[in-house]
Amino acid sequence: MSKKTGTKETISVFGAGWVGLVTAACFADLGFRVIVRDVIPERIAELEEGIVPFYEPGLTEMLARNRERMHFTLDVAEAVAEADVLFVCVGTPPTYSGDADLSAVWAVIDELPPLEGRAILVMKSTVPVGTGKKVRAALDERGLDHIGYVSNPEFLAEGTAIDDFMHPDRVVVGAFFESDGERVSALYKQIDAPIVRTDVFSAEMIKLASNAFLATRISFINEIANVCEVTGADVEQVAKGMGLDRRIGPHFLRAGIGFGGSCFPKDVSALKQLAGNSGYHFQLLSAVIDVNELQKRRVVGKLTQHLGSLADKTIAILGLTFKPDTDDMREAASIVLGSRLLAEGANVQAWDPMADPDSYLHGARFCESILEAVEGADAAVIVTEWNELRGLASKDVREAMRRPLIIDGRNLLDPDEVRAAGFAYECVGRPSEQHAGSAGGSAVNSERNPS
Ligand SMILES: NC(=O)c1ccc[n+]([C@@H]2O[C@H](COP(=O)([O-])OP(=O)(O)OC[C@H]3O[C@@H](n4cnc5c(N)ncnc54)[C@H](O)[C@@H]3O)[C@@H](O)[C@H]2O)c1
Repeated sequence: MSKKTGTKETISVFGAGWVGLVTAACFADLGFRVIVRDVIPERIAELEEGIVPFYEPGLTEMLARNRERMHFTLDVAEAVAEADVLFVCVGTPPTYSGDADLSAVWAVIDELPPLEGRAILVMKSTVPVGTGKKVRAALDERGLDHIGYVSNPEFLAEGTAIDDFMHPDRVVVGAFFESDGERVSALYKQIDAPIVRTDVFSAEMIKLASNAFLATRISFINEIANVCEVTGADVEQVAKGMGLDRRIGPHFLRAGIGFGGSCFPKDVSALKQLAGNSGYHFQLLSAVIDVNELQKRRVVGKLTQHLGSLADKTIAILGLTFKPDTDDMREAASIVLGSRLLAEGANVQAWDPMADPDSYLHGARFCESILEAVEGADAAVIVTEWNELRGLASKDVREAMRRPLIIDGRNLLDPDEVRAAGFAYECVGRPSEQHAGSAGGSAVNSERNPS
């Protein structure tokens, strides 16, 4: 409760990106008054007009529904004037060294004006372990020792962000003072989820360790898939058989072209760097990263097996975003693959229903439709498992391609159906042409690795 008004606390959110806007919209939906501050004038202007600057299902509607409880501003003083709780949701991208770049976090701390009362600064951005202690010291130094500090990492996934926020597996609240942890926990009281109350260091580590573990599962199943390819086993069957073991569980056992996105790659390398900076060599995470990089490049090997040199060959890249239901291309496998193909001298024709790829793949031709992308192609590569690609093995596509070759980087299609439709077909860890028919039908798995 706000001491000033006796009503619900007023929330201020710094950063109008995926995490910030979803946090703001969801708290507004729960009845809180929310002020959102960003540093990009166009972003704030768009939000004032009800335009969401990226694609996240349901977010536009949720913001519209709660418009009267929300305010958008560029002005820090306005953002904090009446706020009881200040959520920091700014980006923490990787630096060249692999460490997290905390400059936006520090900018928020540096810009804070003098604050009255016991407002609480809540860190939702993913930060290295030990950041909270440094922020606490910086606040104290700035004469803001009366401001509370809580670590409350976010676990939402793009594409399902609203549901993830409203129905989380857990809410993690790490505090230096019991009373601050109580107040932040109380913000979530309408949400039905266990609250993990802990110290700030452990809360920071829970976030990094969770993402690193999920990434490890993906690299593990990708290596199993690679061994399946040379032994004749079917990774889909293997994953199903493994996942039914309650000690293992079925999630994040989907073999494919590797993980990407704005979180897994950077959080894995940030944890590896954090360990290294503290004198510990985290060997497992080095392998997770290496396997992931190689996995993206294995597609090139499969293409050359079929086509020989890729110079002057035309390759359709189908799907550019790092996963479906988002327009986010950060660290997408398509960037590495597309760049490799262009470097080999191939012509790249790319299609994606959401991505705005201009800044990522110079030299590729972007196509409006799947049919346009496969026109005259020597191979079509499924990089993102968009639903629109489920019908790829059609007569129209086969006739449009110069060679009917599909490389399925996400095991989206049914091998038997694709081959029966007259295509040569390669996927990840499922029986190749030479083993086809020996392993029985392999059902298409509909679960994704939602990073
Ligand atoms: N995207 C995800 O799926 C996801 C999930 C969980 C956690 N996270 C973590 O949450 C944090 C935010 O991620 P994101 O994807 O929302 O980032 P983002 O890049 O989409 O958005 C960050 C926003 O912060 C704004 N910003 C920068 N400096 C600012 C300042 N001084 N004051 C106010 N706003 C400022 C930027 O302009 C931008 O709009 C990161 O640490 C990320 O690792 C992200």
